[in-house]
Amino acid sequence: MDRIRIVGGQELRGVIPISGAKNAALPLMIASLLTDGKLTLENVPRLADVNMLIRILGNHGVDHTVNGKRIGDEPYAGQTLHLDARNIVDTTAPYELVSRMRASFWVVAPLLARLGVAKVSLPGGCAIGTRPVDFLLMALEKLGAEIEIDSGYVIAKAPNGLKGAEIDFPKVTVGGTHVALMAASLAHGSTLIKNAAREPEVVDLADCLIKMGARITGAGTSTIEIEGVTRLSGATHSVLPDRIETGTYAMAVAMTGGDVVLENTRPDLLQAALDVLEQTGTSVTTTNTGIRIRRNGGGIQAVDVTTDPFPGFPTDLQAQFMGLMTRARGTSRIKETIFENRFMHVSELARFGAHIRLEGDTAIVDGVDKLKGAPVMATDLRASVSLVIAALAAQGETIVNRVYHLDRGFERLEDKLVACGAIVERLSSGEG
Ligand code: EPZ
Repeated sequence: MDRIRIVGGQELRGVIPISGAKNAALPLMIASLLTDGKLTLENVPRLADVNMLIRILGNHGVDHTVNGKRIGDEPYAGQTLHLDARNIVDTTAPYELVSRMRASFWVVAPLLARLGVAKVSLPGGCAIGTRPVDFLLMALEKLGAEIEIDSGYVIAKAPNGLKGAEIDFPKVTVGGTHVALMAASLAHGSTLIKNAAREPEVVDLADCLIKMGARITGAGTSTIEIEGVTRLSGATHSVLPDRIETGTYAMAVAMTGGDVVLENTRPDLLQAALDVLEQTGTSVTTTNTGIRIRRNGGGIQAVDVTTDPFPGFPTDLQAQFMGLMTRARGTSRIKETIFENRFMHVSELARFGAHIRLEGDTAIVDGVDKLKGAPVMATDLRASVSLVIAALAAQGETIVNRVYHLDRGFERLEDKLVACGAIVERLSSGEG
């Protein structure tokens, strides 16, 4: 199993190209199931989760081709993926595949809406909490689906098609909103989604569905209206920039000091996080191509943060921010309101000498002057990158174990950091 070795203490200086968003690419790829036309997705990141989803879609009969790279292509340019779901051969998503990637449960919506039936394994819990799918099933039931749960599988049927309805989510859910959008696009009549997620990835999915012929208004607000159509067609769509990757590198620069331009990204995708970074004493400016992050001299100020659905501070940046706060001047209170168990990184950050205690849903971080490199273990995607952030500023050497978590969501992490002066290397299985 690969590991990453980091020697801390280098400032980051240079340019980091930001990839397409994992959490937009996944639902967009799943939307290919809604049509017998070809869906072409550009700026798709090269990630383990994307490859896994290609396998899962392939199991349903989706053909894929990836554009080969041409000489002279930018090494970081995202890949172009052509997905063709003309011939669905299987409407079952088996446990062996769904259990490896939660988001793959969302295939239930397009399969049901287009073919009238879907059998999809329940995804189960994961390292950040129980993460049920009750709201997703509620949305499909509102649209007229008959849902049965048998031997760990959700069996959803709508032999006469889905019917538009009002769906009022009791809590903001990104996956629930994706599922409702996809299903309602092919339902008879109109659907109103209330308390919809406003995340940029929801807007990206809606934009792509609109290009495919869906009639959707209000994406990006809490109320989305969908007028169902009988058929969707193929389309070409470019995946939006990854706001979590953007925020992660911004926090890395705030941590080490230095001056980095994050290219191909937009501040409006993560304004709440950038505002918090400015309060820590980091300079954030917008350039023609992205966002410039600088911190010279001066310490890191402690700031309190509460995670919230978009446009609030994202839960997917909570661990990274905690990494930064371990070296802040003073005490920071970090409250997690989205997932009940998303603090697995606390005990790992303590290995660097960080002072963090938990009180219910809040982590209290007393900043320390120095962190010291240590062997640590990645537990989930965002937790693992918070360890990288700590390691970049720690004295001496850190070995991050279980790097496959990082490969799920960060494209060429070590290359991007090394290009800015960090000392980072991947140790392949058996090495070092
Ligand atoms: C998406 O997960 C993201 N995943 C997560 O990113 C992200 O943390 C999360 O949204 C919140 O922003 C992808 O986009 C692939 P939710 P999702 O439904 O859709 C509860 C990462 O690191 N809930 O918005 O699964 C749920 O337990 C990942 O990239 C129910 O109770 O999250 C949570 O407390 C991790 N019942 C809250 O709602 C349901 O049926 C929000 O979850 C559904 C959700």
